[in-house]
Amino acid sequence: MRIAGSIAIALGFAGAASASLHPRSQESRDFFALHLDADTSPDRVAQVLGARHEGKIGELAGHHTFSLPREKSSDFNALLKELQSTRKLRRRSGLTAPRNADPLEGILWSHKIAPPRQRLEKRAPPSSSYIASRSNPSLSSRVDLTAQNEIATELGITDPIFKDQWHLYNPLQPGFDLNVTGAWLNNVTGQGIAVAVVDDGLDMDSKDLKPNYFPEGSWDFNEGSAEPRPLLRDDKHGTRCCGEIAAAKNDVCGVGVAYDSKISGIRILSKPIDDVDEAKAINYEFQKNDIYSCSWGPPDDGATMDAPGILIKRAMVNGVQEGRGGKGSIFVFAAGNGAVYGDNCNFDGYTNSIYSITVGAIDRLENHPTYSESCSAQLVVAYSSGSGDAIHTTDVGTDKCFSAHGGTSAAGPLAAGAVALALSVRPELTWRDVQYLMVETAVPVNVDDGSWQDLPSGKKFSHDWGFGKVDASSLVEKALTWEMVKPQAWFHSPWLRVHRSIPQGDKGLLSRYKMTQDQLKKANLAKLEHVTVTMNINHARRGDLSVDLRSPSGIISELSVARKSDNANIGYVDWTFMSVAHWGESPEGEWEIIVKDTQVNEFNGDFIDWRINFWGEAIDAAKTHLHPLPDEHDHDHPYEDPHDIATVSVDPGPVKTGAPENIDDHHDRPINQKPTSTPKPTVTQPGDASKPTDENPTDDELEVVNPSPSTTISNPPTPSSSSGSDYLSSYLPTFGASKRTQIWIYASFAMIIVFFIGLGVYFQLQRIKRRRTNPNDDYEFEMIEDEEEMQPMTGGTGRTQRRGGELYNAFAGESDEEIFSDDGHDVYHDRLADISEKDNEDDPSPNSGLLSEKP
Ligand SMILES: *[C@@H]1O[C@H](CO)[C@@H](O)[C@H](O)[C@H]1NC(C)=O
Ligand SMILES: *[C@@H]1O[C@H](CO)[C@@H](O)[C@H](O)[C@H]1NC(C)=O
Repeated sequence: MRIAGSIAIALGFAGAASASLHPRSQESRDFFALHLDADTSPDRVAQVLGARHEGKIGELAGHHTFSLPREKSSDFNALLKELQSTRKLRRRSGLTAPRNADPLEGILWSHKIAPPRQRLEKRAPPSSSYIASRSNPSLSSRVDLTAQNEIATELGITDPIFKDQWHLYNPLQPGFDLNVTGAWLNNVTGQGIAVAVVDDGLDMDSKDLKPNYFPEGSWDFNEGSAEPRPLLRDDKHGTRCCGEIAAAKNDVCGVGVAYDSKISGIRILSKPIDDVDEAKAINYEFQKNDIYSCSWGPPDDGATMDAPGILIKRAMVNGVQEGRGGKGSIFVFAAGNGAVYGDNCNFDGYTNSIYSITVGAIDRLENHPTYSESCSAQLVVAYSSGSGDAIHTTDVGTDKCFSAHGGTSAAGPLAAGAVALALSVRPELTWRDVQYLMVETAVPVNVDDGSWQDLPSGKKFSHDWGFGKVDASSLVEKALTWEMVKPQAWFHSPWLRVHRSIPQGDKGLLSRYKMTQDQLKKANLAKLEHVTVTMNINHARRGDLSVDLRSPSGIISELSVARKSDNANIGYVDWTFMSVAHWGESPEGEWEIIVKDTQVNEFNGDFIDWRINFWGEAIDAAKTHLHPLPDEHDHDHPYEDPHDIATVSVDPGPVKTGAPENIDDHHDRPINQKPTSTPKPTVTQPGDASKPTDENPTDDELEVVNPSPSTTISNPPTPSSSSGSDYLSSYLPTFGASKRTQIWIYASFAMIIVFFIGLGVYFQLQRIKRRRTNPNDDYEFEMIEDEEEMQPMTGGTGRTQRRGGELYNAFAGESDEEIFSDDGHDVYHDRLADISEKDNEDDPSPNSGLLSEKP
């Protein structure tokens, strides 16, 4: 700390002198987020560091932004690193920080903030195919509108485009809608609930939104102003999403799913934004806003693998822990529109978060839209564009409507609206109760399409449809009598070392983890909700990889799929995949992960390590506590936890080693504790701790064809070199040497490995750095706009349709400039505006928008 202190003092003088000379601009200053303990004043920290305190980070308790002149920030960085390693050392040695006058001791966590990044432009779908499909004769027919009219009359709905809002009530394809009118007839309309649409703005002057507009829950993070008014020509997406949720019951356009709920606009997508503002945005007024509807994410190009920054991850956890009076903010995310590019929502860190409800799309004929991404993290689907129609909603303008809203962008808000209805009758439901209710009431669709698995819980799950389509009335009905679940518990496995090359072709590399009854009890975990797997794979072509997870009861989660456009030569770096497919299962037993390199080619790689995390309902509510905020991954994966190492299974004849007796609370387990019982030795080959002894299998035997469980890669205990001599000798060969010499031998191996890992990390960092500085990769968000929103109906099933490459071809030959240029947008939007205006003005006939032939 002495060195740190002196750097700080040096910085202090320089910083104080220059602070006033620099403008508040990202160009000349670097920004840092610091988490301070409750006793540490940010002003004092700023003073000691010579930094400027820029303010609190939204609702994240103790988190503050500091800035200092760019030329000072590398010293500052070094200081923070040193503080961090001091903290780590202290944590490991079980010491508490000395409470002296040094305020730097109160820094719990630090993170450098990257400058605001520019999101990619919206991908404007070609509108011509939409126009063509509108006149698809196969869809026009005479419809009996009596029932629809009766419902409208009974509810007093006079909104002119209600008759077009098939997603609310579908007279043409009965039952292919949200089934919401039953809830409305029971006077469940979203009263008292506020939904925030985090997007590109909310037109509060629209007569359809004005009655429900909630200024207190709204903010414009792009302009730093209170009103999230759409300013760019392009800022229409958010308003359209708002209309789907909370368009008022009046004489303008249609109605929202929860037409008496309040609607907030949180504007973040119209300018570059940094992680601090994004973190603030998703916690914005989280005691007043109940639901955050997010129809955006990293690019859906089938090549991107991107997750929210650590600060945003913290804000999401903060949202579910502290928002809504501790019941938890509800985050709803659109699954993504990249299915045509082979994209999958497990490559998006927002949609594969356990804290978000991931919503894919289903079209009006219950087909799987070609754009809608599948993945094991998808919870439900809701209606959107495809098969010749789209979502009819409110648009920017005092009384403007829009008839071509689509993509998963349009599906997410419908689910958010349904949740608003459920919360309006049971506001005390937690964020996990809401996910349970979605699981319980979603309606499986196309059950014979081969995508469904029967789960031990009695539910069905499909990677294409999640648990099925959202049914608003059932959701509300179930919510009314729902017995709330106990708090969340979890179990994090140790890092499981594999370090093997992955066979190419049909074979896969299998690794197992055994979860015991004992561990479950210690973790206070009753049954599963989410499963996450964090893994490291080095590979020369990421898109060749696929990963399946198999539960003890044989349920398969496709955690990762091969992606033809993904040429990244980086593999997976501490990436976390998520699955909801094991919801309700018992985690007890053997879990298998199968990694495949699907292409036989010159690109290959190694499966380094993984860990599995089980999240679910607690056994004993009294013993639960909140999960700590996420931290950056520790890149020197310790493989060190004796409690967990003891549970690693070895096949055949699992080596059960028993857990250390003196650890009763696994959550507060001490680090580097020695095991109290010693496992029998399992490794004979010096220097390769990952090879099991019982068989001494050859490499060929280790390559197993999924799903044959007969041969396996086992995960024998993998002690770290720091674990002490007793520990060491019990696991590893002795070379006939003294303990001292053994330690020396193993330490040497460890250092060599660490050196190469370090080298690898260095080169990867260099790569990442290069990519970061490449302006083409400088994105933050991309709107999830419908790729093939307006695909003409082809009558085939969704599964075959969505692999098509039509859109790709549609763009062929056009440069990005042509597609994304402002001019292009204007043309596009004007054209679409024309369509929607026509809908409103030229079609006095009842049910005019309903797929009937246009003049
Ligand atoms: C629709 O909601 C009602 C309750 O209002 C429920 O009884 C029914 O099963 C739901 N589903 C369908 C397809 O009608
Ligand atoms: C409908 O519910 C609201 C509160 O949610 C209540 O104020 C109103 O009186 C109810 N109306 C009827 C007809 O029950």
